[in-house]
Amino acid sequence: MKAIVLKTFGGIEQLSYEEIEKPEIKANEVLIQVKALSINPVDVKVRNRQAPLAEDLARYQPLILGWDISGEIIEKGAVVTQFAIGDEVFGMVNFPGHGRGYAEYVAASADQLALKPQHITHTEAAASTLAALTAWQAFDSYGKLRPTDRVLIHAASGGVGHFAVQIAKYIGAHVIATASAANKDFVLGLGADEYIDYRSTAFEKVLQPVDFVLEAIGGVNFQKSVQVLKPFGTIVTLPSGYTEADVWKAQEKQLHACYFMSVYSNGDDMRTIASLLEKGGLKPYISHIFEFDELGKAHQQLETGRTVGKVVVKL
Ligand SMILES: NC(=O)c1ccc[n+]([C@@H]2O[C@H](COP(=O)([O-])OP(=O)(O)OC[C@H]3O[C@@H](n4cnc5c(N)ncnc54)[C@H](OP(=O)(O)O)[C@@H]3O)[C@@H](O)[C@H]2O)c1
Repeated sequence: MKAIVLKTFGGIEQLSYEEIEKPEIKANEVLIQVKALSINPVDVKVRNRQAPLAEDLARYQPLILGWDISGEIIEKGAVVTQFAIGDEVFGMVNFPGHGRGYAEYVAASADQLALKPQHITHTEAAASTLAALTAWQAFDSYGKLRPTDRVLIHAASGGVGHFAVQIAKYIGAHVIATASAANKDFVLGLGADEYIDYRSTAFEKVLQPVDFVLEAIGGVNFQKSVQVLKPFGTIVTLPSGYTEADVWKAQEKQLHACYFMSVYSNGDDMRTIASLLEKGGLKPYISHIFEFDELGKAHQQLETGRTVGKVVVKL
């Protein structure tokens, strides 16, 4: 099968289009013929060896990045009962771990997948995996967002943010979204109640206190976000690095909870995402679609830090 192997950590030139053996499945796994995959900042950070996960993955040879896939089941293991051959499924495979998603065929644990809703395409399904799960787990597993909450969502136009705005509105919360002026209409169109242009306005100076922050930038932005929380508020932060100063800032304030989260593969959560997609409570926005042999270009797009919604790769 064709796969994109990471030869060594580094630039996009290390992503190599190669012919390798199809994976063999274990009893609890299915083999998926991949129709589309999506990428996330973590793909770029692992490729550059900037994410802690890269150290765990360094031992794999060949190392194949990618976790977000949508496709069709072509083989199933002996103990898999929830899916049949021919089912169309999507999910975030083996995260954090060796996902091997940049490939024509992926072996995936059946309990990390959900049936793809019939009305959406594989590109839409592949987009609605890691980023959507992150938003859902931030509001449902790490924190508990309540319908009466005021929630501040940073980077609301990005992969995670655009799902987070929709999920927070689905829960019933009042959403304040940050983005640059170019993305104002986009985030308001997702359902945000208020919008702050983070480039022209210091959100910590204008915002009435909030109950919950989904923090996607890190550093000073984290510390300013703690300032705008009500006592007993919750902050969930996404970037992998945080400093002792961040922890002190959070401890100074009497918070209900402060999480430095890490999204994890989970079939129940994938089924929730599938159900939200089915009910219309969630819709992925895909700004860029690349061909499989253009995966390096897809990484370059994410590296701009300016992506609106999701970047997807078709097979
Ligand atoms: N810990 C975890 O489990 C986890 C899971 C998922 C993601 N993450 C991390 O969370 C971060 C966001 O991920 P993502 O997939 O949403 O990234 P993304 O799609 O690349 O985010 C791009 C968006 O961020 C916006 N943005 C950039 N700087 C901003 C700022 N200072 N304030 C407000 N918006 C800003 C940009 O909007 P403008 O062009 O308008 O500025 C752009 O639309 C990344 O660092 C990622 O690694 C962590």
